[in-house]
Amino acid sequence: MSEKMWGGRFSQKSAKLLEEFNASLPFDKELYREDIEGSIAHAQMLGEVGILTPQEVEAIVTGLRQIGEEIERGEFQWDIADEDIHMAIEKRLTQLIGETGKKLHTARSRNDQVALDFRRWVLRQNRRFQTLLLNLIEILTQLGEREKETILPGMTHLQHAQPITFGYQMMAYASMFKRDYLRFKESYRRNNLNPLGCAALAGTPHPIDRHSTTQKLGFTAPTTNCLDSVSDRDFALEHLFNIATLFMHMSRLAEELIIWSSQEFGFITISDQYATGSSIMPQKKNPDVPELIRGKTGRAYGNLLALLTTMKGLPLAYNKDLQEDKEVVFDSTRHGLISLQILIELLSTMEINRENMYRACKRGHLTATDLADYLVNRGVPFREAHHITGRAVAEAEKRGVDLSDLPLEILRQIDPRIGEDLDLSLEKSVQSRKSFGGTAPGQVARQVAEFRKFLSRERKKGGE
Ligand code: ARG
Repeated sequence: MSEKMWGGRFSQKSAKLLEEFNASLPFDKELYREDIEGSIAHAQMLGEVGILTPQEVEAIVTGLRQIGEEIERGEFQWDIADEDIHMAIEKRLTQLIGETGKKLHTARSRNDQVALDFRRWVLRQNRRFQTLLLNLIEILTQLGEREKETILPGMTHLQHAQPITFGYQMMAYASMFKRDYLRFKESYRRNNLNPLGCAALAGTPHPIDRHSTTQKLGFTAPTTNCLDSVSDRDFALEHLFNIATLFMHMSRLAEELIIWSSQEFGFITISDQYATGSSIMPQKKNPDVPELIRGKTGRAYGNLLALLTTMKGLPLAYNKDLQEDKEVVFDSTRHGLISLQILIELLSTMEINRENMYRACKRGHLTATDLADYLVNRGVPFREAHHITGRAVAEAEKRGVDLSDLPLEILRQIDPRIGEDLDLSLEKSVQSRKSFGGTAPGQVARQVAEFRKFLSRERKKGGE
């Protein structure tokens, strides 16, 4: 005879390997808090509608709270034969309070139970991402403000293009992470719906009140179609996508940090606290932190694709395939949160080597476009101006100097329309790019001010 909770129609015991293969308990323990809170709300609602007596509700709630404490103190006896967190907690409840424990599952199924627990877990973690993203945007905004006049080579194709400021570049990343923040926030709002009470797939004949559990658990509304609700994992997919995109952005910044901290660039120095050494080469100081962030991006993409693929072709409603939803989400969440935390710490402790950045601008004729623009202002058609500037660059190359250091007489020999007022300095170049959203310090200051406003607005609202 089977001793399982669902064992009534079984005449043989489960195989050992079945238990190991089928169980989610080793990983879905992670959901214990959400499971207990969901069960408490469910029991209280069953009391409100007269399915449970006040005494029964009281016994169930007290028992569930005790189980929560047992788990937190590490005293709970985990047994893989219980299969999952839902049955492990229910079995313990019955041990603690007797027959009444068996009434808790009235008007409920593990299908809506797991949909509820997992959704609330994802929403909780979503909040943590929102908070950390605001902290990350804050540090980038501080760097934007402080370094709004720090000039470095702006690049395209990783080749010197035009001078920009480091503050400007930091605000570019702040803009990416702001979109990530808003994506998490929108996902939270879209998915803050209650599937509890959907039961196995068709709803329930019991006179339950889904609005009551909705309110108790802090959702905005109950989900509207039970068949969809027990098999929908869009909230988890969105979470995985949000994390994957966040990782893509973190990885791009990580890549720049790695390049900038190389001997060739020397634009930044990563603090000793966040760098590592080599076991053989004593002189080495390695950027393991940004490298790991870049590396973990692979698993964040993989996890998203894994769940998308699992979901494909599932008939309605619940299928056991859905149990594969959890580990990928736990994994992406854990690595995403720790990566964000350490990135924030690395950015707040790194040194900015302003002189190296400035010196690098003296290679690659960064102000060539400025010369062409100057000629355009003198009425020369842009294409011709481009050509004249090309000749000036060739002359500078021949002399082994940067275009900005070519004497004015030489430039005037190339084209007499070039006047005394020509200023090819890096400072002038950066100052001149004051079109909306450009690199001029005034424009960066405007972006910083907007981000400050955004940060204080979002913090006041407390996320959602
Ligand atoms: N452990 C299961 C999961 O994670 C819970 C739901 C099981 N429901 C069922 N009908 N077998 O998906």
